[in-house]
Amino acid sequence: MRVAIGSDHAAYEGDSPYKPAIMAHIESLGHTVVDCGTNGSASVDYPDFAQRVCDTMLGGQAEMGVLVCGTGIGMSIAANRNRGIRAAACANEIMARLAREHNDANVLCLGRRILALDECIALIDVFFSTPFSGGERHCRRVAKMG
Ligand code: RB5
Repeated sequence: MRVAIGSDHAAYEGDSPYKPAIMAHIESLGHTVVDCGTNGSASVDYPDFAQRVCDTMLGGQAEMGVLVCGTGIGMSIAANRNRGIRAAACANEIMARLAREHNDANVLCLGRRILALDECIALIDVFFSTPFSGGERHCRRVAKMG
């Protein structure tokens, strides 16, 4: 699977930047990473990088996405303005699993200021290994969102 990843500067706060570690982990799972930036600690605007990831997915260059900002919330708000994007800000493994099973989420949004790096990695493992449940009621609800 091709996974588009984007972040703002929050993913580069502290001594161990999250985005490079997350990219390496996704590649270690056998996926191809499409890097949509940012790539350093200079302050940027999260909607710009959410949109890059969404454009990459909607343009057919990636099937799934990961977005990292301070909380995951700004990225999810920005990404969900795009029809066909279902971005889920997740703070624990239950949210990551149900975002896939019930919502068929295609973008995982993570908060650098909320989650430790190993927690982010655990959520990525759950998100990318959990299929959409399907079934009439979940398909109907997802379809209603366009
Ligand atoms: C940037 O300081 C911060 O506001 C951003 O990363 C994000 O948390 C917004 O939702």
